[in-house]
Amino acid sequence: MDSGSNGQSCHDQPVFPYVCDLAPDSSHASLADSLRQLTGERQTYTEQARRHGAVLFRNTGGRTAKDFDAMVRCFGLPNFPYEKSLSNAVRVEKTERVFTANEAPSDVRIYLHHEMAQTPVFPSKLFFFCEQPAESGGATPICRSDCLVARLEHELPSFVEACAGKGLRYTHTMPADDDPGSGMGRSWRSTFRADSRAGCEVRMAELGYSAVWNSDGSLTATTPVLSGVKNLGDGRRVFFNQLIAAYSGFGPAGESPDDSITFGDGGKLPADMVWKACQIAEELTFDIQWQTGEMAIVDNHITMHGRRTFSGVRKILASLIA
Ligand code: FE2
Repeated sequence: MDSGSNGQSCHDQPVFPYVCDLAPDSSHASLADSLRQLTGERQTYTEQARRHGAVLFRNTGGRTAKDFDAMVRCFGLPNFPYEKSLSNAVRVEKTERVFTANEAPSDVRIYLHHEMAQTPVFPSKLFFFCEQPAESGGATPICRSDCLVARLEHELPSFVEACAGKGLRYTHTMPADDDPGSGMGRSWRSTFRADSRAGCEVRMAELGYSAVWNSDGSLTATTPVLSGVKNLGDGRRVFFNQLIAAYSGFGPAGESPDDSITFGDGGKLPADMVWKACQIAEELTFDIQWQTGEMAIVDNHITMHGRRTFSGVRKILASLIA
């Protein structure tokens, strides 16, 4: 594995992530200068995010959620509002476009995923911003999904074709009320924007979900068939699914991910191949070791992200693009 001058992994591909220092003489990092530069070069940066998978901006001069909001707005891209998403995560809004990246406890690792790939509605891009790095740990791992498919095509071709041909369905149990103690504790009321079971059922029917109500008031919902491997139309294929996070998130104590993900035809996934994919993804991963004021744009079609465990206070904010 090659390593670029900033420590990025290359894999014979465009350097990943692309690093852009907005104030090379960092003693003069100024938010006003960054806002001008981001506005002037927004198309270039967006294209770089597509080509490289992610762009990391150092020395933005930004410090607060409001500063981050202003930087995101420089790109002139449409907002993807969290309340309209079907995300399972519980979040706290900071501004109209900015929210806390995830409220899950610091010892919960969030494994690699494409944002909301387990739902029919997902953002095209994500911005992250570091308001305060953790005392230790807390990196944001990112992984090029097209590089992962390229490796899998070589090592597990039948698995790639099964994912591409059959697609995947996801089953998830949602509590009646938000559970901030879980990384995926968003309630069915919030997820489907419904205040009654009947309203929830109407929304699920529109989206192609099937579901079972449980005696404790929770809802076990199954998605329509979603992509396993997606063709981007530019010669690249990506592992656009939630297999890695779903498999890695299960403990060894008799729990099985088989109840939560199947192929689109209901068939069981080959666990050994999924684990191999998890292992290759980890090999391809670059950790963003955050410094205060850094911002990243991640193309959600190309690049997966996650969260390492940490100690101390960690304030990473996020903003999603439709
Ligand atoms: Fe995420």
